[in-house]
Amino acid sequence: MKKDLLYEGKAKKVYSTENPEELIVDYKDDATAFNGLKKGTIEGKGVINNKVTNHLMKMLEKNGIPTHFIKELSDRETLVKKVTIVPLEVIVRNIAAGSLSKRLGLPEGTKLGSTVLEYCYKDDALGDPMVNDYHIKAMNLASDEELKTIADYSFRINTLLSEYLADLNIELVDFKLEFGRLTDGTIVLADEISPDTCRFWDSKTHEKLDKDRFRRDLGNVEDAYKEIMKRLMGE
Ligand code: TMP
Ligand code: ASP
Repeated sequence: MKKDLLYEGKAKKVYSTENPEELIVDYKDDATAFNGLKKGTIEGKGVINNKVTNHLMKMLEKNGIPTHFIKELSDRETLVKKVTIVPLEVIVRNIAAGSLSKRLGLPEGTKLGSTVLEYCYKDDALGDPMVNDYHIKAMNLASDEELKTIADYSFRINTLLSEYLADLNIELVDFKLEFGRLTDGTIVLADEISPDTCRFWDSKTHEKLDKDRFRRDLGNVEDAYKEIMKRLMGE
């Protein structure tokens, strides 16, 4: 079914298929951090991120969020709708951590008074700089209407995911989303939702169950990914 390798990113490969409207995503075990400066392998990550992403995308679809998901093909491969990615990393934050803690001097774990939405311009050479609505408009990265849709979906996704994960004793600290345009221009959720792209903390112990274990050399990286898959999917 796979035809040509169209793109190889840090964590995934993307292939064309016989259908010009559909692509195959293939998840790798490779892990990077700090814009590729730190490199490693998290054994089994590709399988877990593929399954966790699809599980969460299906849940979001059921709740009215359009996504690129079509069908899981194998442990590591998923058929998705072809999109043009809007070149923004959309970050949603409920609790201070990571770069927000550093930038604003808020200790990690500080509950934010309200949800914070941030945009970063997807450009590795520039180190994905943070931008606001005005930069996005001035650089023509997305129209006002598209950005409104993206923000609206992002807040709804935050509510849906936070509630879903709370039942599994997982606190959704923050996460990163990417959106794409279908050929007819419709905005859909794309990319992945996984321990690579979210901060998941155990609700009781606040233990980190995500890629921060790799970024910060905390150990038990594989176990954290497995624990997330187990809580979400019983596997
Ligand atoms: P940050 O605190 O480092 O800005 O990260 C915020 C969230 O975004 C966190 O859940 C991890 C995720 N993230 C990515 O998915 N990709 C990235 O390249 C970065 C920097 C963060
Ligand atoms: N994956 C990203 C990179 O290599 C960053 C991260 O997730 O921390 O730059």
